[in-house]
Amino acid sequence: MAKMSERRGSIEISGLGFSYPDGTAVIDDLTLRIDGGEMAAVIGQNGSGKTTLAKCVGGILQPSRGQIRIDGTPTFVGRKRTPALVERVGYVFQNPDHQIFSQSVYEEIAYGLRRLHMPSNRLDERVREAAEVCGISPDLFDEHPFFLPKGMRQRIAIASILALRPSALIVDEPTTGQDFSQSVDIMQFLQFLNGAGHTVIMITHEMDLVVRYARRVIGMAGGRILVDAPPEQAFLYADVLSALAVQAPDVIALGKELQGYTDEMPTTSDGLLALCDRILGRAW
Ligand SMILES: Nc1ncnc2c1ncn2[C@@H]1O[C@H](COP(=O)(O)OP(=O)(O)O)[C@@H](O)[C@H]1O
Ligand SMILES: [Mg+2]
Repeated sequence: MAKMSERRGSIEISGLGFSYPDGTAVIDDLTLRIDGGEMAAVIGQNGSGKTTLAKCVGGILQPSRGQIRIDGTPTFVGRKRTPALVERVGYVFQNPDHQIFSQSVYEEIAYGLRRLHMPSNRLDERVREAAEVCGISPDLFDEHPFFLPKGMRQRIAIASILALRPSALIVDEPTTGQDFSQSVDIMQFLQFLNGAGHTVIMITHEMDLVVRYARRVIGMAGGRILVDAPPEQAFLYADVLSALAVQAPDVIALGKELQGYTDEMPTTSDGLLALCDRILGRAW
């Protein structure tokens, strides 16, 4: 009966290889499984292959070798993209402006639904639902997306994917170019979607957000997975950090300094403070 309770949005990547048409080989023999309902972060240097991997999972790119299955269904069969894929998995572009084409916010959110030839009453319901979830007021429906702030364009890009109700969502560097409070808003929003049952994969360079919001860290270097671990383990090793070109989040770096006193590794500042209190209580 275990299968009955499995959450939707599982991603199974087996033996994935991908080369661009110009011959650039980016991914070679990558295997990874993400269960339905996970919230994972993909990190790694620019050029390490994060976006290419995400586009393969989202069905924007066809694997050169190997296979990707979303809830058991391959993204491509032969050269043909699985027709209902958009309802299983959605990829939100790194730059929302590469995704936004419509003249109004409403039409942008409706774009994918129109391509599915959804009847207009159901389409209207879905657009309004996605807008509400993303905090986009109907007052903005007639606005041109390009005249809105970047944070709002990012939400519109997410809403247009969410309107398709994909079980799994991959969001490519949603916090780049946002200030800290906007970044936290976006992360809390992704956390909310995850709580509502979506598998969420976020690509980001902000390790403080990774440690705070992701329960699994997948680190890429040169098109391969170098580390795949919970945040309290992923940032412990200097050679891994240097291959990923990242610094450990402060909370982890400080926690590591305390390893002589304890085996605990907190991932929040509150957890770290409580740990310091306990250590000091014992020491004094
Ligand atoms: N359309 C393309 N054609 C050829 N090479 C590309 C293309 N897009 C990306 N690449 C190359 O693929 C590699 C991985 O890029 P990308 O997946 O965008 O990495 P990341 O998202 O981690 O920065 C880089 O070397 C990049 O130059
Ligand atoms: Mg990228």
